[in-house]
Amino acid sequence: MDAATRQLIFEDARKWVYQAGKQIRDQIDDPYQIDTKSDANDLVTAVDRSTEQFFTEKIREKYPTHSIVGEEGYGDKVESLDGTLWIIDPIDGTMNFVHQKRNFAISIGIFHEGVGEIGLIYNVVEDVLYSGKKGEGAYRNQDKLPPLGEQVNLETSIIALNSSLACENKLINEKKVQQLIKDSRGTRSYGSAALEFAFVAEGIVDAYLTMRLAPWDFAAGLILVEEVGGVTIQANGKPVNLLEKNTILTCNSKIKQQLLGEYIEFK
Ligand code: IPD
Ligand code: CA
Ligand code: CA
Repeated sequence: MDAATRQLIFEDARKWVYQAGKQIRDQIDDPYQIDTKSDANDLVTAVDRSTEQFFTEKIREKYPTHSIVGEEGYGDKVESLDGTLWIIDPIDGTMNFVHQKRNFAISIGIFHEGVGEIGLIYNVVEDVLYSGKKGEGAYRNQDKLPPLGEQVNLETSIIALNSSLACENKLINEKKVQQLIKDSRGTRSYGSAALEFAFVAEGIVDAYLTMRLAPWDFAAGLILVEEVGGVTIQANGKPVNLLEKNTILTCNSKIKQQLLGEYIEFK
């Protein structure tokens, strides 16, 4: 994608993110329908659905040749990364949205022929937009984020993780995750994968490790993290797959090998 096209799409996407964010803030105290999806704790609300519909309508009107993957199903049936693809999570952190009315984000990653071009993560209640464009850096609102630090080591790192990784599970050796909790400076669990990616990009946490994220959870985040020199991979060391769920590690590249070698062991 050439820089001028990227800029035009970025400006539209950013405008729509701010509009959608305002609509969410305006509705946040209204009664809205809450449903469950795969299990009783997997929540979805009418606001998640209407926000995704807002984006799909805007994109289809302005960019009819682009494809859309959206968590709530208003996108297309996408089976390849051909062309320009928008990957949308209308509300990442729905449980936080319902229970806390904060700590959630709109997340949009835009890819062209499988290459990450634009990432937008909008903390709706705090009105903080993390944004990035391929080769042009990442920003927190108007402030350019510096490259991730060179002098990072695990003992002084904060690790964001989904705490279920430290419980008995079928995927990853929980004993090693418990050791990671002991060996790092501290751990955090924010409940919004998109914000956890944004915090890695901002350098306020040094890694985020979690099981089975969907593409809409990490599509924007991986672009932002890459723009500050960080790395996003599957926790087994393989490249991420944008068309399926991935167990994800995103981090400062200085601690990647140590995390993979000493603390992440698949069963
Ligand atoms: C969820 C959040 C959560 C993560 C889950 C995601 P949702 O997204 O990002 O932090 O642990 O794996 O599904 O359902 O709130 O959009
Ligand atoms: Ca999500
Ligand atoms: Ca969601």
